Amino acid sequence: MTLLAAIPPELLPRAGVAYMHYLSIMVCFGALVLERRLIKPNPNKADATLMVITDVVYGLAALALLGSGILRVLYFGQGAEFYTENPVFWWKVGLYIAVGTLSLYPTITYILWAIPLRKGELPKVSEALANRLAWILNIELAGFALIPLVATLMARGVGLANYGQGL
Ligand code: HEM
Repeated sequence: MTLLAAIPPELLPRAGVAYMHYLSIMVCFGALVLERRLIKPNPNKADATLMVITDVVYGLAALALLGSGILRVLYFGQGAEFYTENPVFWWKVGLYIAVGTLSLYPTITYILWAIPLRKGELPKVSEALANRLAWILNIELAGFALIPLVATLMARGVGLANYGQGL
């Protein structure tokens, strides 16, 4: 309680949105790792259902990540221009979009699984499809591991035209 009381009230929303950003990253990464572990040819009902649920959780966390990121740019960061004028920020956004676009393939696949699962049938997952999904998840995980590196550089102004002056 004393710790909370020591925090200036105007800092709370800033810290809260930053926390949302970190929590969303952890949930996204955790969901991707779980999906990667679960993917296999012709999964049983429990695994297939868990994959569909995990992908929904991943999608919601990815939206929270985007939302908290936009809030930080606009209201709770170092001023919108600090980011929008920095190419490293756009690299970060580009990586997020690339990972998001890649995840469309698994997501559409799992949505299609939900149809047989609702009828009590098992989805047909060939060895080739399982391998393809595993590779896409590997690339997404690598992308997710890389984005925080770009983020830490961006947060410290690396990439800005006046970087290094007056630091
Ligand atoms: C388009 C989506 C995103 C936007 C607009 C965005 C925006 C931001 C902003 C404005 C900050 C604050 C930087 C500062 O302290 O000045 C930040 C920090 C951070 N972001 Fe994002 N972000 C996005 C996606 C992501 C993703 C996908 C990840 C990780 C996978 C991520 C990881 C981080 C980390 C680790 C920090 C803290 C950097 C530090 O303080 O050293 N962000 N982000």
